[in-house]
Amino acid sequence: MVGIDLAGKLIVFEGLDASGKSTQAKLLARRLDEAGFDVVSTREPGGTPIAERMRSVLLEKEHHALLPFSELLLFMVSRAQNTHEVILPALRADRTVVASRYRLSSMAYQGYGRGLDLDLVRRLNETATSGTVADLTFLIDVPAEYTIRRKADRGDRIEIEAIDFHRRVRQGFLELTEGDPSVRVLDGTESIDRIHEAVAKHLGL
Ligand code: TYD
Repeated sequence: MVGIDLAGKLIVFEGLDASGKSTQAKLLARRLDEAGFDVVSTREPGGTPIAERMRSVLLEKEHHALLPFSELLLFMVSRAQNTHEVILPALRADRTVVASRYRLSSMAYQGYGRGLDLDLVRRLNETATSGTVADLTFLIDVPAEYTIRRKADRGDRIEIEAIDFHRRVRQGFLELTEGDPSVRVLDGTESIDRIHEAVAKHLGL
């Protein structure tokens, strides 16, 4: 991928909780900045004032009553706001957007994890984003045990789900991205530095 023009491109990091994707997103943003790119970083759920409100409803541990369908819609509100308030304006200004989580997370978590209809999730994703897709996705793959070990007792409402839930999500990430040339799967059990170098190399940095 050497020589790829990263201006106006959307780069997304995906993976289970505790996979290190946010760390990698931060390292890449810094590296791009040093290389002279105009970088915008964003995360989901969140990224705008309205989306941050959705985040607290979604992740609050006391919200046992939140239905899977309601959860899906709240993630879509967060994504729609983030897309239209942050991501699209940045891409139109030829900036490089580095995002922690995007459409794939809803397919894996709400589709595979919660068992909601994948086609429904796909259609809502399409509408919420006005068809915006990642130019390049780095999927940081780790076993579900990673999430459980790091998040079982001090995680948020989704992180403290049973290991089977996280196993289904991981399987979803892998199945959904299989054979997709815009997705690069990285072994998240490797060191932070090695993973970062693999990302940088892939982007020709
Ligand atoms: P996470 O990436 O863990 O946020 P942070 O690293 O800032 O704490 O996201 C919070 C949780 O939301 C995580 O368990 C995954 C879940 N999630 C979904 O279930 N569906 C989605 O569409 C998104 C974006 C996140």
